[in-house]
Amino acid sequence: MEYKADEHRYEKMEYRRAGKSGLLLSKLSFGLWHNFGKNGDFENMREMCRAAFDRGVTSFDLANNYGPPYGSAEENYGRILDADFRPYRDELVIATKAGYDMWPGPYGNWGSRKYLTASLDQSLRRMKLEYVDIFYHHRMDPETPLEETLEALADIVRSGKALYAGVSNYNGDYTVKAAKYLRKLHCPFIVNQRRYSLLDRKIERDGAKDACREQGLGIVAFSPLAQGILTGKYIDGIPGDSRIAKDGRYLHPMDAESRRESVTRLKKIADDMGTTLSALALSWLLRDPAVSSVLIGASNPAQLIGNIEDAGSVEFTDDVLEEIDRITAEY
Ligand SMILES: NC(=O)c1ccc[n+]([C@@H]2O[C@H](COP(=O)([O-])OP(=O)(O)OC[C@H]3O[C@@H](n4cnc5c(N)ncnc54)[C@H](OP(=O)(O)O)[C@@H]3O)[C@@H](O)[C@H]2O)c1
Repeated sequence: MEYKADEHRYEKMEYRRAGKSGLLLSKLSFGLWHNFGKNGDFENMREMCRAAFDRGVTSFDLANNYGPPYGSAEENYGRILDADFRPYRDELVIATKAGYDMWPGPYGNWGSRKYLTASLDQSLRRMKLEYVDIFYHHRMDPETPLEETLEALADIVRSGKALYAGVSNYNGDYTVKAAKYLRKLHCPFIVNQRRYSLLDRKIERDGAKDACREQGLGIVAFSPLAQGILTGKYIDGIPGDSRIAKDGRYLHPMDAESRRESVTRLKKIADDMGTTLSALALSWLLRDPAVSSVLIGASNPAQLIGNIEDAGSVEFTDDVLEEIDRITAEY
């Protein structure tokens, strides 16, 4: 049946400015890192994208190598656009990235002009798009001169193949350098996408959060539920249908095991407040004005809908925030 988006979708979502730019992002973005590969269930993928957009999520996050195999998440997203979303293209913020391993040889990884330019062309072909809204350099490259990477991002934006530039996984020092350099090039550089959750607060220590605030950049916080650990689902073991059981590439039993005690204590706070651990974790990020968007993943529409409904539902007292700080300080 032809898809018609919920006409009340924009009443259901808050939109936040990406730093000091003109671009508003839905406070939740939906990421296609997992569950959008070649062997995923296409109807499930499609339902998740519909569920997100119907609830006001306009921001969709991809990368060249999301799959598996590499490229297949972008291909599937192109099919979803064909099926449902081409008429809504101007209502979507579609992001992709390059910076990690993508194709063999010296030109399919890291941060050279050669790699970034070719990779975005490939991404556009896979998604059958003329442009993406945000093109990210996916990680710091210690060997390519940063200036080369940044000039490539600026030229890509000038070419019209991306509207805005972003970086991901950049520390404070790289973020400041990138912001200053891209400002000189009049390139609209608007976001740093970083892992940020109750179980990973490194961004607060390595200068990136302060750098984003000072340089007028937004933070897009990825893996806000620590890939599912902050739902509490691993407290009593490893469920058979979970990410750890299904796909151990990026999340290991040890990750859940080593955080079990902290997660149990955080869940107790949530229980005492009459809410869920996921709601606590997502709301904790969203209470922070430096965070422009919280970038969630999901395996099925029910998870996604639950998390959209939960996000921002929790009010924090100073006492609760202090208790959370005590538990999560080590992360
Ligand atoms: N820039 C980067 O380097 C980078 C790196 C990583 C991710 N990202 C982006 O961030 C996005 C989100 O990352 P993420 O998927 O790790 O985010 P996440 O929101 O922390 O984890 C999502 C996973 O948690 C589990 N989950 C979520 N809600 C649940 C619920 N209500 N009940 C039970 N389980 C639930 C599901 O996994 P299971 O059901 O399979 O257990 C789901 O796939 C990615 O798609 C990607 O776009 C970017």
